[in-house]
Amino acid sequence: MKDDGVITLRRLRVDDAEAFAALAADADASAPVSRPNGRPDYSAADAALFIASEVAEGWRTGHTLRWAVVDRACDRLLGTVALHKVDTSGAEMGIRMSAAARGQGHGHRAVELVLEYAFDHLRLSVVHWYAKVGNWASRNLAHRAGFVLEGTVRALASADGPRADCWILTLTAADYRIVTAAAGAPADGGDLAAGIPAVVPVLCDGTIRLRQLAGADVMPLTANCQDPAAVRWTTIPENYTEEDARNYIFGHVPACWANGSEQNFAVADAASDQLLGTIGLHRFQAGTAEVGINIGAGARGSGAAERAGRLLIDYAFEQLNLQYLYWQAAVSNWASRKLAWKLGFRHEGTIRGYFVQRGVPTDVWLLSLASTDPRHRRAPWDGAHLPRLDQP
Ligand SMILES: CC(C)(COP(=O)(O)OP(=O)(O)OC[C@H]1O[C@@H](n2cnc3c(N)ncnc32)[C@H](O)[C@@H]1OP(=O)(O)O)[C@@H](O)C(=O)NCCC(=O)NCCS
Repeated sequence: MKDDGVITLRRLRVDDAEAFAALAADADASAPVSRPNGRPDYSAADAALFIASEVAEGWRTGHTLRWAVVDRACDRLLGTVALHKVDTSGAEMGIRMSAAARGQGHGHRAVELVLEYAFDHLRLSVVHWYAKVGNWASRNLAHRAGFVLEGTVRALASADGPRADCWILTLTAADYRIVTAAAGAPADGGDLAAGIPAVVPVLCDGTIRLRQLAGADVMPLTANCQDPAAVRWTTIPENYTEEDARNYIFGHVPACWANGSEQNFAVADAASDQLLGTIGLHRFQAGTAEVGINIGAGARGSGAAERAGRLLIDYAFEQLNLQYLYWQAAVSNWASRKLAWKLGFRHEGTIRGYFVQRGVPTDVWLLSLASTDPRHRRAPWDGAHLPRLDQP
């Protein structure tokens, strides 16, 4: 879910069917390609089926990501926006706003939020935009977001009628960064997504909740980061203080969510909301990221780490559309390696000195998991059977 304070992008739900069908009934001759919902007799039942099947399938495979654009205050459907033909490097963007929602900047807001998702979270290199020749509203919307006109493709559009010529526009990741940096101080109030904190998703399996870190987490986070195993195996600062925790929660974490460099979550007990640890995705590259985790001593061995790992992995593959996840465990950190093994990661080998811990190169085990791999242990445990270091 993404939100800029005025509109929200969220998944389409079956209870949007009626509004979705009304949106489809809205004259759609300007659409560059034919759509299943372009028929004049398209009903709410058709829409419900479409949302439950194709839209869900698109999210499941990660190839077509369709959002509802809704009024943040009342959840009214204003339109839909989508990334089509998503692969690890690019996608095509499509948008359709209801007649009542046009001309108020909502389309621009939706485009900005999707571009942020496409470039900062999916790490795409390019997004394309097609508009039927003559559809200046569409072309201007794309242009305002930084898209550049590449040219006209003859007889490309096939929306319910004779093929029509299409404009094709392109926005690369590099151009997007220039456009968003320049929009840091918007002259006309137009670049509304800039500077807005990212919305941290809540991921829950009923027992464990991954959520945004908050002020109440300062004390337990401090304790978790003073724990000898955490100090020994991670890169957190030594002699961790409450101030370090506050800087992390209110500075580092939101800044990284906003610039897309890391996505860190609190691992909380779903019933009490008590902080158990932290987990996150780091070192994003196109289609890949690395998992980092630190669970407090009191929650180790409870299954919390495995549940948190599973929630994060599903999110990374199904919502961020990543292809591979990596896991680094400093050599001898058997608890970490075994947890990764339980989650389906494959041990690839040892890299000498690759894990730099407080300035000291340390040998590290590297493990990997592909989006297509089973997400559970795949072979018998072949690691150490030593007593836990963190428990008597
Ligand atoms: C790594 C960590 C997240 C794992 O969480 P956890 O709750 O301990 O994980 P689990 O209990 O599900 O799995 C760990 C497994 O390793 C085993 N283990 C723990 N220490 C071990 C050791 N020294 N030798 C061999 N096995 C060990 C546990 O017994 C457990 O196996 P089991 O379920 O078969 O009993 C947690 O220990 C932690 O946060 N440690 C400190 C920070 C850290 O190392 N982070 C990871 C950096 S890569």
